[in-house]
Amino acid sequence: MFNKNIIKLSEVDSTNNYALSLKNNTFFKHGLVIISDYQTSGVGQRGSSWESERSKNLLLSIVIEPDILLADRFDVSRLICISICDYLRSLGLNPKIKWPNDILVDNSKIAGVLIHNLISEGKITHSVVGVGLNVNQIIFSEYFPKAVSIRNKLGGEFNLEEVRSSLLDFFEENFFMLKNRNELQIKYLEDLFMRDKIALFERENQRFNGIIKSVTLDGLLIVEIAKKSKEFNLKEIKMIF
Ligand code: BTN
Repeated sequence: MFNKNIIKLSEVDSTNNYALSLKNNTFFKHGLVIISDYQTSGVGQRGSSWESERSKNLLLSIVIEPDILLADRFDVSRLICISICDYLRSLGLNPKIKWPNDILVDNSKIAGVLIHNLISEGKITHSVVGVGLNVNQIIFSEYFPKAVSIRNKLGGEFNLEEVRSSLLDFFEENFFMLKNRNELQIKYLEDLFMRDKIALFERENQRFNGIIKSVTLDGLLIVEIAKKSKEFNLKEIKMIF
């Protein structure tokens, strides 16, 4: 399904913005995928930008109709993160999800996820699931966390069509999990970076240690600090590693 209805662009500002601009068209529906060789203003989380050399990496946005409550929106993040990890594992890599939705390999960022939801009456009617996956790019600017590609890790050049097709197959296979929150949560936590380990955090210019225990169903990070469990949202806390 996700490999059947693809709009391929050579250049666009952002595949997510492009997908959203189509929202009043009849073909804006579950299964539509936008890919581009290059983005002139790729968007990242927290207002950052997303760098990607022309034709080197996977830049895609998947339109889905998740049929879930807005309150359950973190499930879409879980689903795409799990699917990216499944795909990277199939290549022999050992990916981890850095809460909430960065995909790391050996502490470096190999993929990022940015989701836009369209909402009506407390339900998500559509999500635009944006994925940037570093595939063949070798040199990146300085970032935190450091960026890395599949090629950096495994050597050789990867066919972007094959990468896209396999990733979308994993996404499709896992899609049923939106109806099974338990399984989504179990799989997300299995892949969670630094789970049950002591991590260093920064909050309001203060650094402290805590143990990452879990993530709530609505996506808050649960950290044990001085034997007490505390929950944080993305704006409140930053992990240093
Ligand atoms: C992050 O900051 O980690 C999220 C990056 C998401 C980048 C992807 S690339 C395809 C899609 N289009 C965008 O403009 N952003 C997402």
